[in-house]
Amino acid sequence: TGLVTLDSGFVNTAACSSSITYIDGDAGILRYRGYPIEQLAQRSNFIEVSYLLIYGELPTQAQLDDFTDKIQRHTLLHEDLKRFFDGFPRDAHPMPVLSSAVSALSTFYQDSLNPLDPHQVEMSTIRLLAKLPTIAAYAYKKSVGQPFLYPDNSHGLVENYLRMTFGLPAEPYEVDPALTRALDLLFILHADHEQNCSTATVRMVGSSEANLFASVSAGINALFGPLHGGANQAVLEMLEGIQRDGGNVENFMDKVKNKAEGVKLMGFGHRVYKNYDPRAAIIKKTADEVLGKLGVNDPLLDIARKLEERALSDDYFVERKLYPNVDFYTGLIYKAMGFPPRMFTVLFALGRLPGWIAQWREMIEDPTRKIGRPRQVYTGAVARDFTPLTER
Ligand code: CMC
Repeated sequence: TGLVTLDSGFVNTAACSSSITYIDGDAGILRYRGYPIEQLAQRSNFIEVSYLLIYGELPTQAQLDDFTDKIQRHTLLHEDLKRFFDGFPRDAHPMPVLSSAVSALSTFYQDSLNPLDPHQVEMSTIRLLAKLPTIAAYAYKKSVGQPFLYPDNSHGLVENYLRMTFGLPAEPYEVDPALTRALDLLFILHADHEQNCSTATVRMVGSSEANLFASVSAGINALFGPLHGGANQAVLEMLEGIQRDGGNVENFMDKVKNKAEGVKLMGFGHRVYKNYDPRAAIIKKTADEVLGKLGVNDPLLDIARKLEERALSDDYFVERKLYPNVDFYTGLIYKAMGFPPRMFTVLFALGRLPGWIAQWREMIEDPTRKIGRPRQVYTGAVARDFTPLTER
């Protein structure tokens, strides 16, 4: 019925209208609710940015206090959910552990029974923001065989997360404020990015009126892929591979350019940015600062710099407008902070959560919304008669 046009990968098809995030890919501009990412990175913090994305305006002091207080009251996981982590193998990747635990939140909270009720939506919003860092820390503790730490709400959200990740029950963990600030900044930079693959997934699942936990769980799974959030882990593995090859950047670039082995320069290229990713510019500067402050001298940083320099002056990358994206330098910072590569995409998920929530809520509140149901261009067999088994 009617004309169906094919747009594989939604390269030129808008699936919604949105007032949350603005990107100008040619100019390298990113704004949340109108505020330039550079200003938010420098002057705001992750809790405030989460509020901005979800509720549309920067909070007043009273609103911020109330929001922070509510989140702090919900950081604990149900004891039964804690036991859920024992069911996974020791070497389980923390991303599917994260998505499974978020999906399981639907079984613990009745919000899921009436996903469109504004009070329930608000409760699920707070629960997700409060509990995802605890879940992420437990996924890590499980993978290293250490005991879980209860959240200590005298700490802020990011500080508490670092404490639950790297602390031990018998040893007070002194969180370095510079580390907390750096991670907070990275979370701000990841907090929303309009209709990327995981956010589009959250909206798609939510469009069937599935609850917020189920929708965000689906978003986490979409983020897991190496072309999306999984790229930060893939970048570090790529840099390590080049290091094993004696730091031979030329050799690697040849492989990328001849396309024979399907090797990509991970952390480069973007569907929307055809200019420097503004997040990558901030992160590159942060990488220098954090590594300097922590006294880390990582030879992988030199390889990354060389790769970037080499790529930016190479016709292959120039013609295709391929620039470093958000994932190119983050892995080096996470590594310097003490995170293993398997946790990198989990950190991306922690940062992206307020964006997923804001987008889900915007979709649900839109009176013109419809269930997501793409059309197709059928390329299969024309009508034919059934052949009995004996005649095939
Ligand atoms: N290395 C080498 N060649 C590339 C790369 C790359 N990283 N990215 C794109 N190209 C080439 C691609 O092969 C194609 O070449 P040709 O025109 O000869 O066929 C051309 O550039 C256009 O690329 P595309 O695949 O059509 O672009 P897309 O918009 O469909 O894909 C992308 C965007 C991000 C998936 C892709 O650039 C990519 O795979 N990058 C590496 C993975 C990565 O870093 N992902 C993180 C994205 S940013 C944060 C996030 O979302 O998580």
